[in-house]
Amino acid sequence: MKIAVTAANGKLGSSVVKELIKEIGKEHVIGIVRSPEKASHLGIEVRKGDYNSREDFNSALMGIDAVLLISGMDDPQKRIQQHRNVIEAAKQNEVRKIVYTSIIGDEEGTAFSPIVKSNRQTEKDVKESGLKWVIGRNGIYIEPDLEYIDTYVKEGEIRNCAGDGKCGYTSRNELGFAYTQMLLQDKHNGQTYNLVGEPITQTQLAELINQEFNTNLKFNSVAVDEYEKERKAELGDFIGTVIAGIYNGIRKGVNDVPSDFEKAAGRPHKSTVQIMKAFKENNYTQ
Ligand SMILES: NC(=O)c1ccc[n+]([C@@H]2O[C@H](COP(=O)([O-])OP(=O)(O)OC[C@H]3O[C@@H](n4cnc5c(N)ncnc54)[C@H](OP(=O)(O)O)[C@@H]3O)[C@@H](O)[C@H]2O)c1
Repeated sequence: MKIAVTAANGKLGSSVVKELIKEIGKEHVIGIVRSPEKASHLGIEVRKGDYNSREDFNSALMGIDAVLLISGMDDPQKRIQQHRNVIEAAKQNEVRKIVYTSIIGDEEGTAFSPIVKSNRQTEKDVKESGLKWVIGRNGIYIEPDLEYIDTYVKEGEIRNCAGDGKCGYTSRNELGFAYTQMLLQDKHNGQTYNLVGEPITQTQLAELINQEFNTNLKFNSVAVDEYEKERKAELGDFIGTVIAGIYNGIRKGVNDVPSDFEKAAGRPHKSTVQIMKAFKENNYTQ
């Protein structure tokens, strides 16, 4: 059996690779990456695969039984074709099963919606591929907030436009565990799962960080327009707009969805506090 993971050197890819190795052994896991030199730490066979190159994937997917397609990072419109390169190459190579990491969210109504929409198109492409498929819709990773605690402390606040909206955060380690089960067990074929943890507000997030990291943060909600302007000034137009769109989505409730994590993973999602404790134990490097 050969299971391949695309973007395997990324943080999510590395987490899935680690879990797959535990389950099936490293000789059965293949990492496909844009720059092979960045993946030597994975300790597995590495093949080259840039999402822009169908040819790369024609070779990379030879002899593969199941592939995890990790969503790319490019402009939404470019991503659709990039993901199709992987799907088409999987069909050509008679890969049996494809699992896709999609995202929670609405296709209309926020500045993040174009990204959600492009992911929904890839979901459709995956479903129509003729391969066995499983789709995970990932919640927002909590790690960026935890990595940002020092900055929150300097600023004295968590500030965004999420209002009282709840968000079912997850972590890359939780996702790594779930995707491994989704790749290996055929009972998941044909399912689309919301991969989220318990839904919490930003005020609850601040309280939990205060409790676990001994801080004294407050959440201050600002208007969507004002927050978008601030983020664009700090992070540039593309990322600034995306970040503001994500928090606007939380405000609108799009990240407060029923969780299918337990169905996908075969165990409950860890609590936010458990994830924070693990993050601390791993010296902030999860
Ligand atoms: N749920 C969330 O909160 C959230 C947040 C951010 C992103 N995401 C999505 O989740 C995905 C995985 O997240 P992550 O944490 O693993 O991100 P990450 O650590 O930044 O890794 C991104 C990976 O994508 C690879 N990549 C980018 N462009 C590529 C291309 N043209 N061809 C092949 N590989 C390419 C990168 O390769 P290089 O190392 O060569 O650049 C890297 O391996 C992201 O790509 C994004 O779609 C989700």
